[in-house]
Formats: sequence, structure tokens, C-alpha cells
Amino acid sequence: MDKGQFAAGKYEYRHLPVLYREVTEYLTFSGPCRIIDGTVGNGGHSSLLLKANPQAQLLGIDRDGDALERAGKTLEFARDRVRLVRGNFSWFAAAVREAGWTTVDGILLDIGVSSPQLDDAERGFSLRRDGPLDMRMDRQSPVTASRILNNSPEAELARIFRDYGEERRSRQLAREIVERRAEKPFGRTLEFAAFCETVLGKSRPGKLPMPTKCFQALRIAVNDELGELKRALTAAVPLLNCGGRLAVISFHSLEDRIVKEFFRNQAAACNCPPGLPVCVCKHSAQLKILTRRPVTARADETAYNRRASSAKLRVAEKVQ
Ligand SMILES: C[S@@+](CC[C@H](N)C(=O)[O-])C[C@H]1O[C@@H](n2cnc3c(N)ncnc32)[C@H](O)[C@@H]1O
Repeated sequence: MDKGQFAAGKYEYRHLPVLYREVTEYLTFSGPCRIIDGTVGNGGHSSLLLKANPQAQLLGIDRDGDALERAGKTLEFARDRVRLVRGNFSWFAAAVREAGWTTVDGILLDIGVSSPQLDDAERGFSLRRDGPLDMRMDRQSPVTASRILNNSPEAELARIFRDYGEERRSRQLAREIVERRAEKPFGRTLEFAAFCETVLGKSRPGKLPMPTKCFQALRIAVNDELGELKRALTAAVPLLNCGGRLAVISFHSLEDRIVKEFFRNQAAACNCPPGLPVCVCKHSAQLKILTRRPVTARADETAYNRRASSAKLRVAEKVQ
């Protein structure tokens, strides 16, 4: 997309999805094609992909009903080429079957929380806006952040803050949560953010606010984000045509590591432990990695979209 299009008022910077140029570049195909946007969100990437691929059919998935409504409006211009499905992206295979497809040419995952989810205090994702400790992307799911905080055993809480928040004092935090909830259960975001600062120390100017990682950990647990990502990657590969591409944008190192290791594993000709004289795993390379290093946003993008600065895009192509 060039500056002329901005100047002509066709696009506003704030509506541009993260890494919009790079995603469009990797997921442009010649002629008729089928694309899955597993995180259709506001329909930003889908909209660009439908424009870049005028003969594409697109299947847009999101677990958030509000997001699907927004996507429906954004993608109205290509209504005949779009099918929107509410559900988890790990259910790719079922969604593809229901659409009457067998294989696809491109799959995009732009994982994480969307700006509308973060900005709406009632969704409970933000540590800066007061709201219920909810954090569900799918509001029909029974598991909320307050349910986890107020009911999970201490060891499970410690595991969540250690594994998903990389918090060094996860055991202390879990112990103090259990003590505090016996007096008064946790219910609000700002209250929990203040509690994290009491236990872990005040946030320092210029650094990430202290409760950031605790909120990240809870959000990952509420939405089973890492489990979803692993299942989705595994489900995606068999659906791709030869030459089809899988593009994943992640926003923190836990997710990026999963994508990196999955791609590496799928691109390897053999996954036997080192030292075996002959291959026994019978594995063969399924993917070719197109991004040796993760692609990050250019300076002109991060200048207007701060969120883009933590985005990492990895792309792989199906080879057989
Ligand atoms: C960062 S936003 C995507 C924004 C989108 N690419 C756009 O251009 O508008 C991430 C979206 O993925 C959805 N999401 C996250 N995990 C999901 C999952 N496991 N299954 C389905 N949707 C998911 C969220 O509800 C959110 O709407």
C-alpha cells in the first residue's frame, strides 16, 4: 500500500493491521485461491488479502462474536467471497470441511488480543481500565480470570505465573493470592493490578508496568492460548496445498518459540535423536521456512502503531 492511498483517504493508519505489507506480500497468490484467516478480528488483514487476491475465497474464523460482527461489516465489499465462522482456530479442519473445501493455499494467524478487546474495560483485559476480571475472548466460555484466581489451587496458580508470565516470584505471588482471596475474592482488574504491585513491587518509570506479565499469564490460561496455537499449527499443515503458505504473527516470546520450533521440526528431513546410525522416525520435511528470522515491523509502521513493535511474523511453505 502506498502513501497515495493514505493521502486519498482510502485508509487510515489506525485501521491498518499489523505487518500489513509483509502479510500481503507473503499471502498473494496467482489466480483463484482459498485462504483461511484464523483470527479474522476486525477483518483488517482479510480485507487486504481479498483485495490483493481478487479471485480468493476466504474463510474467516474468530472465537469472539463481537469481532465477527465487526469483520462482517469490514468485509461487506466482498460478501460473496467470504464465509465467517465463530469458533477456535484449532478447529480449522472442521471449518474447512463445512465450507466444502479440502485444501487451502494460505493460512494466517495473527494471535493475541485485538485492540477493541483491550480497549473495552468490560472485557477485563486491560490493567489500566477498571473492569471485571474476565479476559475471555469467547464470552460463552465458562472460564474467567476471576474464576481461576479465586478457585485454582496454589500450585496451579504458581505454574500459570511461572510458565505463562515468566514470573520469578510465582510461588510467592500464588501464596499471597490464596491468603488474600480467603478474606476477599478478586473481582476487578485495577484491584488485581494494585495487588500485584504490592507483592512484586511498584512499576518503574520507563519499564513495563509490574502487573503486565501477570495479566498476560492469566489471559493465556483463561483462553488456553498456547494449547490453541500448538493444535492449530498441527491442524494447518495437512490442509495446505503444495506451495501453500502458513503465516503466523505472534506478540510474545512464548508464542514465537512455539512457532519457531514447530516450523523447524516440520522443515527437518529427520527428527531422530542425534547419534542414531539410521533414521527410524520416518519423518519427511513438510514445510520450507521462508523467514529465517522473524519479520518485524518497519519504523514507519511502529511510529503510528506501538503494538506493532512486538509483532513477529514467521512464514513457511508446504513442500509436499
Ligand atoms: C490481533 S486480533 C486479529 C486482528 C485481525 N488480524 C485484523 O486484521 O483485524 C486477534 C483475534 O484473534 C482472535 N483469537 C485469538 N485466539 C483465537 C483462537 N484460538 N481461535 C479463534 N480466534 C482467536 C481474538 O478473538 C481476536 O479477535
